[in-house]
Amino acid sequence: MDDNNALFKVFANGPLEVSGNFRVVNSAGKIIVNEGPVYLCRCGGSSNKPFCDGTHKSNGFPD
Ligand code: FES
Repeated sequence: MDDNNALFKVFANGPLEVSGNFRVVNSAGKIIVNEGPVYLCRCGGSSNKPFCDGTHKSNGFPD
């Protein structure tokens, strides 16, 4: 993999892991993460969106 590219890895029944070269920007346009890996919530249940907080383990997220 080219070091300049981000890699997105889907975890079964869990988050999206993002690694490589990327930035996460919040709704105000502020960079909140500029290095990884980070784990982004796919289930909608996290109390710390956009990040996974482990809630998917208890809410039955089936994907
Ligand atoms: S995917 Fe982990 S809390 Fe949503």
